[in-house]
Amino acid sequence: MSLFVTFEGPEGSGKSTQARRLYERLAAASYPVIVTREPGGTPISDMIRRIVLDLQHSEMAPTTETLLFSAARAQHVAERIRPYLELGGIVVCDRFADSMLAYQGYGSGQDLDILRTLTRIATGGLRPDLTFYLDLPAQQGLDRKRKAAQRATQDNPLSPKITATEPIEWNRLDARDLAYHERVRHGFLELIKLEPERWHVLDARLTMDELSEQIWHAIEVRLPSIRPLEDTHP
Ligand SMILES: Nc1ncnc2c1ncn2[C@@H]1O[C@H](COP(=O)(O)OP(=O)(O)OP(=O)(O)O)[C@@H](O)[C@H]1O
Ligand SMILES: [Mg+2]
Repeated sequence: MSLFVTFEGPEGSGKSTQARRLYERLAAASYPVIVTREPGGTPISDMIRRIVLDLQHSEMAPTTETLLFSAARAQHVAERIRPYLELGGIVVCDRFADSMLAYQGYGSGQDLDILRTLTRIATGGLRPDLTFYLDLPAQQGLDRKRKAAQRATQDNPLSPKITATEPIEWNRLDARDLAYHERVRHGFLELIKLEPERWHVLDARLTMDELSEQIWHAIEVRLPSIRPLEDTHP
């Protein structure tokens, strides 16, 4: 058996932090696990990420944006996610198709049925087994990111260290207005209502450690179906 776990939520809600922590804990316990992110996760998908999130590309048409996200996802699933799941591994993914429904659908007003069709094409029908939703008011998430970005650019050896797992990025989608980000959050909450059994909702205002513990409790019960590495490679 394999396990496909995704992290979703608004900007700055702690997805990358928690995806990385979960990966580290599973790897330390010798489970076969990879951590990856969207858009990205393969060389081709990372190139698409640069195009789609570039702040300079303000002229990008909504359909272009959606097709680029879908193309990046198709490559990611085909090259990395599906093969690892077929080996019986655990894939931890920082954002996945739900983000496209929330951002391009609820945020930008694109047709949800078309987005669902594109998602099916891109993923070949692959869906996460479990999705953690880190819920945070849009303004709070944007503030966290702004603060982290400021800390990163301050050339002061006494300034607090960035604890995020990747460089703080302020991209084309982050730069959209607060109303957009509020629609995105509302969109995630609608998606959860449609499929409550897949989602595990977390209050992202808790501390990083509290969140990690809640996530681990939800994952632990699923681990008996995963063979640790020493079993698969005697
Ligand atoms: N539970 C938390 N409490 C307070 N700050 C947090 C918490 N989790 C993460 N942070 C901080 O918030 C910032 C954003 O965290 P992180 O990059 O993990 O969020 P993200 O959801 O991946 O953001 P993005 O939407 O940009 O990908 C970082 O500076 C991180 O250290
Ligand atoms: Mg992130």
